[in-house]
Amino acid sequence: LRTGTGTAHGKSILIGEHSVVYGAPAIAFPLHDLEVRVTLTVSDKPVIKSAVYNGPVATAPNRLRPPLTALREAAKWFELDASKISLEIDSPIPVERGLGSSAAVSTAIVRAAAALSGKELTELERFNLVQHAERVAHGTSSGLDAHAVAALTPLLFRAGVPKPLRTKTEVTVVIADTGTPGKTSMAVGGVRAMRENDTQLIDSLIAQLAELTAAAETALGAGELAELGHVLSQAHRVLHELGVTSGELNRLVYAAEKAGALGAKMTGGGLGGCVIALAHDQADATRIAAALAAAGATHTWVSTLAATE
Ligand code: MEV
Repeated sequence: LRTGTGTAHGKSILIGEHSVVYGAPAIAFPLHDLEVRVTLTVSDKPVIKSAVYNGPVATAPNRLRPPLTALREAAKWFELDASKISLEIDSPIPVERGLGSSAAVSTAIVRAAAALSGKELTELERFNLVQHAERVAHGTSSGLDAHAVAALTPLLFRAGVPKPLRTKTEVTVVIADTGTPGKTSMAVGGVRAMRENDTQLIDSLIAQLAELTAAAETALGAGELAELGHVLSQAHRVLHELGVTSGELNRLVYAAEKAGALGAKMTGGGLGGCVIALAHDQADATRIAAALAAAGATHTWVSTLAATE
């Protein structure tokens, strides 16, 4: 074959960021409507076509090292000549917003390489190849993104192990970007420092997040969207007490709630990044997205997850 195509999608953390650092579970939510598409083409003069860079592979900027790592690893695995492959990356996912951009691009590359080679790709092979690139992108990696960007259902993560969750109803969310990159390591460090000062307070906030995560799992399974929304908004307030929100995040959460969202919260590391708002349905989501844009979101996306049964 001369060309191969692969896709993957974005992800967000529905609930459980920060408490997951202390051993509580977190729920990752696949964003099926934020689809990344990669086409690999055999070529004597390999080039990259992408939103951040168009030109020869040889002179690609450093920020393209993770996808090029994914390509190199996948090419090795599938016995392709990586030095003779052009990449076209089409991704709607912004970088450094906790939406799984790097894992989604790497997954699409690995799948495209499998297609190009005409070989089968198991889920474990895909995961391992993507994790290799994720470690180049992030230093360490819990594996949450690499699982979630290929998942068909929400995933509950406990001690790094994913468990597919059932969802009784269709779930529509709006993701809104503050336009400011999330600052995960600063936020995680801030919580750790606060905990050194007042262990009891921080442990009680973490326990609250763990309880809310369990409540979110139950609400998803039962299709109780109003309850799920309520839980998400409560989690945002706990995250605010943990010191990981920002004025922009709070403003967007407030705007989503005012526009009729069932609930809203920051998603990911915080101190910037994105907000996730739960809508009744797609028409409601369109209205919430418009309100979020009016409140200063630099970009909004609507994504729907089908019921699992
Ligand atoms: C960041 O997406 C999620 C955090 O819980 C950090 C982590 O789990 O490594 C804030």
